[in-house]
Amino acid sequence: MEEMISMAISLHVIFVVIALLIAVLSFFFVRSDKEFRGFSNRVESVSLQYYIMLAALFFTGLVVLGATGFSVSLRVVMMIAAICWIIYSSVRLHKLFKKTKEVDIESQKTFKEYAKKKYIVDIILIAVVGLISYAISL
Ligand code: HEM
Repeated sequence: MEEMISMAISLHVIFVVIALLIAVLSFFFVRSDKEFRGFSNRVESVSLQYYIMLAALFFTGLVVLGATGFSVSLRVVMMIAAICWIIYSSVRLHKLFKKTKEVDIESQKTFKEYAKKKYIVDIILIAVVGLISYAISL
């Protein structure tokens, strides 16, 4: 049992790191590409991997939570709150993307601004929550 829990936590941490890398990559795509088609295509192309990592994070988190008898500590509440925010803002970004028209510069600007803010917040949340959780466990 102990081995399974520590393996699930290791996997959980690996998914945290991959999700963080994808968020950083998406942020640079949004920041560097001037053309809407360029950055939106790139962001959309990594967003599927991002969602898979978030789902994997949630799943491994639930496995650990279940294996430890659902003892919900403050850091677990923090992790769940962080992931809920990330999923909520991802859905909003996707909706905004659907509404964005290729000829409409204003809607493209709105999309770009929201995407930038969303990925900065995601990066800060994953890094801060990850570091705090890791530091507490030491
Ligand atoms: C932004 C999302 C998340 C981040 C950055 C994160 C980060 C981490 C880190 C770094 C650890 C390792 C601590 C250690 O080394 O022992 C950990 C453990 C854990 N995580 Fe997450 N996590 C996230 C989401 C979740 C979610 C969604 C759940 C539950 C559904 C969850 C449940 C847990 C549990 C139960 C542990 C073990 C805690 C313990 O030993 O008491 N995490 N998490």
